[in-house]
Amino acid sequence: MKAGIYAIMWLCDSHTVIIILSILKTVVSYCPDTNHWSVWWTYEGSNSGPSVWGARNKDWAICKTGKNQSPIDILPNSLLYDPQLQPLKIETASVNGVLRNNKKDLTFLISNKFEPAVNITSGPLSYTYKLYQIKLHYGRLNTTGSEHRIDGKSFSGELQFMAYNSELYANHSEAQKNPRGIAIIAVFLSIGDTGNSAFEMFRQKFVLITSTDTCTDLHGLPIDKLLPRTDQYMTYSGSLTQPGCKETVTWILLNKPIYISYKQMEDLRETPYQEWMNSNARPVMPLNHRTVRTNINFRKTTRLCSMKISKKYEANPEVGQR
Ligand SMILES: *[C@@H]1O[C@H](CO)[C@@H](O)[C@H](O)[C@H]1NC(C)=O
Ligand SMILES: *[C@@H]1O[C@H](CO)[C@@H](O)[C@H](O)[C@H]1NC(C)=O
Ligand SMILES: *[C@@H]1O[C@H](CO)[C@@H](O)[C@H](O)[C@H]1NC(C)=O
Repeated sequence: MKAGIYAIMWLCDSHTVIIILSILKTVVSYCPDTNHWSVWWTYEGSNSGPSVWGARNKDWAICKTGKNQSPIDILPNSLLYDPQLQPLKIETASVNGVLRNNKKDLTFLISNKFEPAVNITSGPLSYTYKLYQIKLHYGRLNTTGSEHRIDGKSFSGELQFMAYNSELYANHSEAQKNPRGIAIIAVFLSIGDTGNSAFEMFRQKFVLITSTDTCTDLHGLPIDKLLPRTDQYMTYSGSLTQPGCKETVTWILLNKPIYISYKQMEDLRETPYQEWMNSNARPVMPLNHRTVRTNINFRKTTRLCSMKISKKYEANPEVGQR
């Protein structure tokens, strides 16, 4: 009995503390996980741009020498249908964290302190991965912004849901350097007629992080609103798309974009203190004999020999739309 009462009192206390803390919280907060190398590379220019990332730091050599680099251009007629690929499982939930502006991109860093982690399993993954951040890549024009391309075409943006292998590694920094460390779910961003309610939560915060390396709190972001409804994806082995370009990433590209309004896109483009001019997308890298597998069966009528190269890819009507 006594123990029970104590427990309840402790809970009340910790709630009280949380409430007080959130009242005292200022708009702009401390940025965790600041990348100290961030000043040493850029998205444009011959001195620090993508073509010389590999020479800027010895830990980044693989940006130049690596043969499994990302992003890539996905050529629909070279996709390989793999019937063994299961649907991806994402435990969707509301997440808390901070939105960071570090001049290169906007990143939502997820706090796993109080809530259970968002676990990502199945699909091409054989381990459980824990979501740790969502990165936003975008450009100034409608036709630039995404890092991956489909048949040479870019989308207006790309949301990257980054997760680390929580079965093998203690945290994402350790996972990034090790085999099967990272899984990234890429969702293309397109301009549509209506806005996206979860994206609106981002939008309202962009205006607050108006100087470099600043963060602002964001609570209760509903992850599922940022994910298109689809079981269809493409997957391949690649790398991180920012230095040090580690080749430890299982990429999963969802076959449908999410739509945001033109106003939301324009506000995103106007976020200050982004140092690039055109987009924060790394140029596409050579495929080098890698296979891009998909669970999209383009030949549903063919029962036999289901594992074959599709030569009749018709883009999902939404994919490729400007
Ligand atoms: C994710 O997995 C961990 C470890 O198994 C578990 O504690 C947590 O509750 C899971 N998250 C959700 C949202 O179920
Ligand atoms: C970009 O897309 C929006 C919405 O579809 C459109 O109104 C606008 O004119 C486009 N801009 C250009 C330069 O094509
Ligand atoms: C990540 O985990 C490794 C290994 O346990 C540890 O040495 C390192 O300090 C951790 N890094 C962070 C940022 O927590």
